[in-house]
Amino acid sequence: MDLKQEIQRRRTFAIISHPDAGKTTLTEKLLLFGGAIHVAGAVKSNKIKRGATSDFMEIERQRGISVATSVMGFEYKDVKINILDTPGHEDFAEDTYRTLTAVDSVIIVIDGAKGVETQTRKLMEVCRMRNTPVMVFINKLDRPSKDPFDLLDEIEKELKIKVRPLAWPISTGPTFKGVYDLYGDRLSLFFAQDKQTAEGEQIDIRLNDPAIDKYIAPFTQQLRDDLELVEGVYPPFDLERYRKGEIAPVFFGSALNNFGVRELLDCFIRIAPSPGPSHTVQRDIDPYETKLTGFVFKIHANMDPNHRDRIAFLKICSGRFERNKPYLHVRSGKSIKFAAPTAFMAEKKSVIDEAFPGDIVGLHDTGNFKIGDTFTEGEQLQFVGIPSFSPELFRYIENGDPMKFKQLAKGIDQLMDEGVAQLFTSRLNGRKIIGTVGALQFEVIQYRLEHEYGAICRYEPVQVYKACWVESDNTAQMDDFRKRKFNNMALDKHGREVFLADTSYALALAQEKFPDIRFHFTSEF
Ligand code: G4P
Repeated sequence: MDLKQEIQRRRTFAIISHPDAGKTTLTEKLLLFGGAIHVAGAVKSNKIKRGATSDFMEIERQRGISVATSVMGFEYKDVKINILDTPGHEDFAEDTYRTLTAVDSVIIVIDGAKGVETQTRKLMEVCRMRNTPVMVFINKLDRPSKDPFDLLDEIEKELKIKVRPLAWPISTGPTFKGVYDLYGDRLSLFFAQDKQTAEGEQIDIRLNDPAIDKYIAPFTQQLRDDLELVEGVYPPFDLERYRKGEIAPVFFGSALNNFGVRELLDCFIRIAPSPGPSHTVQRDIDPYETKLTGFVFKIHANMDPNHRDRIAFLKICSGRFERNKPYLHVRSGKSIKFAAPTAFMAEKKSVIDEAFPGDIVGLHDTGNFKIGDTFTEGEQLQFVGIPSFSPELFRYIENGDPMKFKQLAKGIDQLMDEGVAQLFTSRLNGRKIIGTVGALQFEVIQYRLEHEYGAICRYEPVQVYKACWVESDNTAQMDDFRKRKFNNMALDKHGREVFLADTSYALALAQEKFPDIRFHFTSEF
């Protein structure tokens, strides 16, 4: 198969949801259809159960498990599918944001009884920033669910995206009969007993066939009415608009019962995009270029303190990746060969000889790589689109053991490279401030500094509401701002200026008083 065919048959995507909506279950069912696993229950849930939220050891253990399931590749109908797993726990949302930089599309899972929830809303914002095409799977229809029209309205309003149903549920809960597949124009009947295998019952029967009544009575008339309304309200499915991230096709089903999943997958492989162009500071990269380019979007540390090696996840953006071929690590200028690059096929991690755009390759790292690092065949490129997001929680980090100053500095440095949290240095007093998106990271950092680096840290409270990157073309105003806000100015890891607003009021006031200053909430602008 040539490069072009390899690229065209790849679909790299992530499943995102609010915890408990059914992401793990759906992932597992997709793997089941792909023949990557044979029984349900083989994929370990990497979500943290409620009630264990302060147990960071458990979280780290779960994160350990999630290495194996970080990328799950499988083949389905000659299509190579790469599912990128995202952490279930919201304190690791930033991991998820970064994973979203490496996918070509997304499937959003929504619980039919709960509708759109907070975490889904936040993740959708990231998709919107990047115009990522999204499909929606409304799950748990075997339970009483909200009215489908209300759900669609809610999605449009809350997720700010137009929708187009490509399947339609016939009742929900105890009287759930199945879905009418609007894409394949046939009926899928629901039987609630078969959770383990990958077979479901599809009947080739059209809506206007009187025999349909036999299967779905007493809901035949309602289905006809509903579908008439669907066709009247929603414009026909438009592939281009979907691929631009403007319209989301919607499916209904029950992942647990293996229902509606095949329809989703069959439609997915037909409409979801294969790898497209990527953007660098220097130029756009076409995936069909023959020379290799790729970037590191995630680094995973080994939890075993005796092996402080890490896995860096490289997303291939163009060309063909080959084992043992030297590639330029752009940031260091070094040429590096990888003797044992790995890929993940469902449960198995194996050494690979080659990989193509859309694939994710695991690279062994002894602490030299950072998130955002670029690999090429010699060209100086820097990928964009791997932003840091403004953290939400802040603390001063102090050295707890004067003899271990170096270890602490190294540990902090490496953990920041992994993207565990962000580090700011106060202009006022030079103190280091750690910013995270979740409270758990503070515990994780403390624990890892101690166990992996032999360093002790202490935290002290600091009053910061938000960190935003600031810039302006108006030098005088910027100078004035720096002077007046001196106490609140800091530098990020790359030496860029950050304003640490102590309250939302202070931020609003600053934005009003300094109209020529741009306040950015992600590090990329
Ligand atoms: P998540 O990864 O999005 O957090 O969700 P996960 O798949 O773990 O699903 C959350 C819970 O919802 C699980 O139950 C799962 O069995 C259930 N679930 C998923 N899909 C469906 C569905 O279509 N119908 C129904 N009725 N339930 C569904 P749990 O009790 O929390 O976990 P478990 O003990 O069953 O694993």
